[in-house]
Amino acid sequence: MRIDILSVMPELLDGPFSHSILRRAAEKGLLEVVVHNLRDYGLGRHKQLDDYQYGGGAGMVMMIEPVANCLRDLQAQRTYDEVIYMTPDGERLQQGISNQLSLCENLIILCGHYKGVDERIRELFITREVSIGDYVLSGGELPAAVLVDSIGRLIPGVLGDESSALTDSFQDNLLAPPVYTRPAEFEGHTVPDILLSGNFPKIDEWRYEKAMERTRKRRPDLLEE
Ligand code: 6GU
Repeated sequence: MRIDILSVMPELLDGPFSHSILRRAAEKGLLEVVVHNLRDYGLGRHKQLDDYQYGGGAGMVMMIEPVANCLRDLQAQRTYDEVIYMTPDGERLQQGISNQLSLCENLIILCGHYKGVDERIRELFITREVSIGDYVLSGGELPAAVLVDSIGRLIPGVLGDESSALTDSFQDNLLAPPVYTRPAEFEGHTVPDILLSGNFPKIDEWRYEKAMERTRKRRPDLLEE
């Protein structure tokens, strides 16, 4: 999969893709993330990217031409499955959205900034709008990194243990059960006996019960869906 990210602050995206799982995905050739500095498409001598809003009001708006020019450059090179705009008024990100997007070949993600982008960008180019939750961040870069992480780990072959993405919280509308590792006893606090029993059908049953219990207590809304 290839993901192109358009940003006015590409430095914010230097870190997230160069470590751990996403780096491994890149090294295996499974995921390529390319960050584009919209400043390169800015207008005039000052490489202008934003301007005052028509009708007045505080806050600058991202102009259409730099974004349009960058998008058209990319779309001339390959076909994109989706052009996603990260915005707090988008569809709230859920596991199902990431599952869907992990099946795509090529994605574009536009990071919003300032007061947002000229509405015509959304009308003309954007196929999907995503928010990562009901709180305000200063730009779409961190949300884009969240989205790419959640997609990237679902691409077949990215996670070492193929089954492990399927046992994540939310994959079956259940939170994950508790997990333990060595030592079996820490300062008198022990690991549940069942996990040491070697009785795997019983262990599966125990995990399911714990997942249910945890979900009922913390996220009863998930059980109603
Ligand atoms: Cl996608 N962008 C911004 N600026 N804030 C957010 C968000 C996105 N999702 C939640 N808050």
